Amino acid sequence: MQRTAPSPRELLEIAVEVARDAAATAHRMRAEGVSVAATKSTVTDVVTAADRAVERQVLDTLRRLRPADAVLGEEYGAGATEAGPGGVRWIVDPIDGTVNYLYGLPYCAVSLAAEVDGQVVAGVVRNVVTGEEWTATAGGGAWRDGERLRCSTETDLGQTLVATGFGYDPKRRAHQARVVAELIPHVRDIRRFGAASLDLCLTAEGRFDAYYEKGLNAWDHAAGGLVATEAGLRVAGLNGRPPGPDLVIAAPPALFAPLHDRLADLDASGGP
Ligand code: IPD
Ligand code: CA
Ligand code: CA
Repeated sequence: MQRTAPSPRELLEIAVEVARDAAATAHRMRAEGVSVAATKSTVTDVVTAADRAVERQVLDTLRRLRPADAVLGEEYGAGATEAGPGGVRWIVDPIDGTVNYLYGLPYCAVSLAAEVDGQVVAGVVRNVVTGEEWTATAGGGAWRDGERLRCSTETDLGQTLVATGFGYDPKRRAHQARVVAELIPHVRDIRRFGAASLDLCLTAEGRFDAYYEKGLNAWDHAAGGLVATEAGLRVAGLNGRPPGPDLVIAAPPALFAPLHDRLADLDASGGP
């Protein structure tokens, strides 16, 4: 049955309320002490009690506020409800940058996006430690704490500060490191801060010129990708594909083709 979704603005209001409470829980649990609760894909792919508690809180709140909506979360996967035509699907990474969270590094975030008919229409990324908050709605611009964001105007790949990240699988990391080794002579420098959602938001405000990463899941890039797009970046995968596990590239329009082509030459979407 076709349903009418709330406006992006209304969805963003809900997302911000939920993300703020979630970030407060993550912050409190960090202050109380944090340890590894389990590992997932590899021994370095850790999950803390906070990852689970924060996602559980987000799921419970969304179920109360929006009982008919679908949810996809990193820790608990997809719920039983599916988003039919016109329905809303929420996409949540309860703590993006879990390794930073574990080590007390101030670069980890709650990421929450709302999707309607497969399109992300609202998103919020909130740094758990600093309280910085990035928001965007489709067509409504990207914002941080009341300030409208515009991406870098850099046009020369050789002057480009590029952020990226690495997966948890050692073989994948080795391939990604080879790509970085080949890319770094052709750009200003590389940054690897450890939270994809924040990397996208920092790229949105020009603190990085561009960003790319292989192996991201929807919860890593849904909200940050909208913030980046609304700040003027082109966000896409290789060869016109949408951003996805093969590759996410976020670059100012003039830099997209040169970075894309260099990454394609380096087989950045290849390897394990
Ligand atoms: C990870 C972070 C990291 C990126 C990895 C992600 P997690 O998410 O975003 O920066 O390089 O690809 O898996 O595990 O901290 O939620
Ligand atoms: Ca993540
Ligand atoms: Ca996570």
